[in-house]
Amino acid sequence: MSDRPEKFIDENGLRLDGRKLDQIRDVKIEVGVLARADGSCYLEFGKNKVIAAVYGPREVHPRHQQKSTRAIVRYKYNMASFSVEDRKRPGPDRRSTEVSKVSREALEDQVFTEYFPKSAIDIFVEVLQADAGTRTAALNAASVALADAGIPMRGLVSACAFGKVDDTLVVDLNKDEDNYGQADVPIAMTPDGKITLLQMDGHLTPEELKTGLEMAQEGCRQVYEVQRQALMDHYAKMQDETKAPSVEEVVIAEENEVSEDVSTPPEEMKEKVVDESGEEEPEVEKALPEEEDEETVEEPDTEEDDSYE
Ligand code: CDP
Repeated sequence: MSDRPEKFIDENGLRLDGRKLDQIRDVKIEVGVLARADGSCYLEFGKNKVIAAVYGPREVHPRHQQKSTRAIVRYKYNMASFSVEDRKRPGPDRRSTEVSKVSREALEDQVFTEYFPKSAIDIFVEVLQADAGTRTAALNAASVALADAGIPMRGLVSACAFGKVDDTLVVDLNKDEDNYGQADVPIAMTPDGKITLLQMDGHLTPEELKTGLEMAQEGCRQVYEVQRQALMDHYAKMQDETKAPSVEEVVIAEENEVSEDVSTPPEEMKEKVVDESGEEEPEVEKALPEEEDEETVEEPDTEEDDSYE
């Protein structure tokens, strides 16, 4: 573990990693990275690297968890043993159970679970590299993966933390700020500002909480823009690959079809034979199967066939 820095904010008002107080770390998102998941996302939030996979709606196992009026949402957060400085013991622990629970609650209300009774929507998030803020990074990835899986949602959930270091509020804490800072408040919210996750570690005055929430809200808004853009880029790329026509192309094609219909009669109309009464001659002969010449038909001689003997 690194030593506690002497101070977190320099004389220019910049943090140790060069960021301004209200600046979030760079967010990179790739959508649809796993072929076997219904929806997936790879996300980097500064040095955090996470991957999210969504399965469902699908059958619920074990059955007793099934709800007759809605889908259940399950969320599994896991930190790879190689993701942190000191190797983490593999498998679930109290921390991952807690992160999974609050993250599920942060997403569940945004999903139209009533559309899928008796089914399950499973979200798995693996932290590949951790640098503080993994629960917010994981939530951002999970939200995009849900959208990629085509799960109907009220809105994307975007998450970002704020905290206090050197008696100063900062947004999106890095590892040292998280380890040695005075407070850490991860939050998640919808684009219309509804908070779906709020946890607090440390001490803050009510004024600090209010100001910090505004800072984190702006951070979430910036994350949301990256999530939205990543989804749009992904579907634009998919449209190019499948060569599905755009709306404009469909409209132009339909207009051309209409104008062709008016000027030239369809092929089948030209071929039809019309007799004097104006009625079509039925093609009786063509419809009947050709008669077979009885003399040329050879009956299979089963009794005398000794070819197998
Ligand atoms: O990651 P997040 O800030 O959401 O959760 P945390 O419990 O506040 O953990 C803060 C950071 O501590 C993590 O992001 C990891 O970088 C680190 N950590 C660790 O080094 N070893 C662990 N077993 C758990 C966390």
